[in-house]
Amino acid sequence: SWAAVILAAGKGTRMRSRVPKVLHLIGGRAMILYPIEALRPLPLRQTFIVVGPDGENLRNVIGGEWEYIVQNQPLGTGHALAQTQKDIPQTIDNILVLSGDVPLISSQSLSHMMSHHCASGAAITLLTTDRFQQRGLGRILRNSSGQITEIIEEVEDEARSHEAFELNSGIYCFSSQWLWDNMQNLSPHDNGEFYLTDMVSMAAKSGQKVESVSPKDSMEILGINNRIDLAQAEEFMQRRTRDGWMKKGVTLLNPSSIFIDVTVEIGMDTTIYPNTFLTGTTRIGEQCTIGPNTTIRDSIIGDNCRIQTSMIEEATLEEGVDVGPYSHIRPDSHLEQGVHIGNFAEVKKSRLGRGTKMGHFSYVGDATIGANVNIGAGTITCNFDGLRKNRTIIEDDAFIGSDSMLVAPVRIGPRAITGAGSVVIHDVPADALVVGAPAQIKEKPERKRGSD
Ligand code: UD1
Ligand code: CA
Repeated sequence: SWAAVILAAGKGTRMRSRVPKVLHLIGGRAMILYPIEALRPLPLRQTFIVVGPDGENLRNVIGGEWEYIVQNQPLGTGHALAQTQKDIPQTIDNILVLSGDVPLISSQSLSHMMSHHCASGAAITLLTTDRFQQRGLGRILRNSSGQITEIIEEVEDEARSHEAFELNSGIYCFSSQWLWDNMQNLSPHDNGEFYLTDMVSMAAKSGQKVESVSPKDSMEILGINNRIDLAQAEEFMQRRTRDGWMKKGVTLLNPSSIFIDVTVEIGMDTTIYPNTFLTGTTRIGEQCTIGPNTTIRDSIIGDNCRIQTSMIEEATLEEGVDVGPYSHIRPDSHLEQGVHIGNFAEVKKSRLGRGTKMGHFSYVGDATIGANVNIGAGTITCNFDGLRKNRTIIEDDAFIGSDSMLVAPVRIGPRAITGAGSVVIHDVPADALVVGAPAQIKEKPERKRGSD
C-alpha cells in the first residue's frame, strides 16, 4: 500500500516573488496542480501536502480533498518529509515523495517508478536522468560497480562544477519502515537544512538497495527554482498543448506565437492565426477562424465563428458570429447566432439577438437587444448617469440610425427607427420613427428594411 507526499513548504526565495512559488502559473494553471494531477490515476491510499505556516492561499487553490501538513519552519526537504510521520498510518508500506516545484512529471513515469520499487525491494528508488542538464539540481554519484552512493548538491560540489551529471529529480519512492527507522539520523548542513537526499548515502552505507529509473521524457525532471526555469516549463507546456491540438485537427499558423492554456478546448477544423492567446476556461467550436492578434479568455465560442484582432472576455458567442477587427467583447456578453460585430465596437453585459448587426464604432453596455436589429455606426448606449448603470432594451427588427445616443433606461420598440444623430431619452413605441435631440416621434415614412 502506498501514500504520496508532495513537498510544497519551501520559501521559493529564488523566484523573488510575493506569490508562493508553487502557485506561479504554467499553461494557465498553478504549478502545484500538475503533480497533483499526475497522482490521480495512481493506486494511493492517501496524499499529503506539506505546506508552510501561511499555506492558506495554497489550500484555496488546491482544494480540500487532500491532507495538509504544516511545516512551521522551512528547515529543508528532509525536515519537511519528517513532519508527515505522525500522520501516515503504520499500514502504509511505501511512500512516494514529489516536489511541488517539479511540474512536468507524468503519471506513467511515477507508475513505472513504483513498480520498479516494489519489484526490486529497494529502500529508496530515485527518478534520475543524464539526458537533460539543469543548473541547481542534486548530482547522483555512483561507485565503480554502478551503484548509487550519494546525492550531492551542485553548490556543495564546487570541485566538479563543469561536468555533465546524472541529476536527481527530487522524486523518490521510500520503503516506509526503513525511512521512519532512519530519518532521525539526518543531520543539518551548514545552512541549517536537513536534506532528504542524505537518506541516499545513509541507505548505501548500510547496505540497503538504492535503485533508480528514468522518466519517459527527460524534461519531466525540470525543477522550477527561478523565473528562467518557469519560462522553460511554460515553453514545454505550450509546445505540448499546441501539438496536442494539432493532432486533434486544429490548424495553427506559426504555432510558437500562439499561447493556449491547458484548460482550453478547441474543435476540429478550427484555424488559429498568429499572436493569439486562448486562456482560462475558453471553449472554441469547430470550423472557427481565430486571430491573428486575438485574446479570448474564459469564453464560449460556437461553431463557424470568425474573430479577428479582437479581445473576448467571459462572453458567449453562439454559432456563426463574427467579430473584429479591433473589437472588445467584455464580461457577461452573449451574442446569439449569426451576430455581426465589426470594427471598433465594445459590448459589455449585453445580449444581442440572432442576426443583429453592429458594424462600426459602437458601444453597447447593459443592454438587451432583440433579433435582426441594425445598430448604425457610432451608436452609444448611454448606460451610466453618474450614479448608476441603467439598461437599454431594443426589440426585434429595430433600426438604430448612425450616431444615435440611447440614454438609459430606455426601450426601443420592435421595428422602431431612430434617425441619425437622435438623442433618445424617452421610450420609443413599436414601429415609430424618432429623430432629433431630444428625439421626438415623426410620422413614419413608408420604408422597407434592408434598403440602406
Ligand atoms: C532539491 C534536491 C535536489 C534535487 C531538486 C530537484 C534537496 C536537498 N535537494 O533541491 O537534489 O535535484 O530538489 O528539483 O532535497 N520544501 C519544503 N520544505 C523545506 C524545503 C523545501 O517543503 O523546508 C519543498 C519545496 O517547496 C520544494 C521541494 O521541497 O517543492 C524542493 O525544495 P527546493 O528548496 O526547491 O530544493 P532544490 O534546491 O530544488
Ligand atoms: Ca526545487
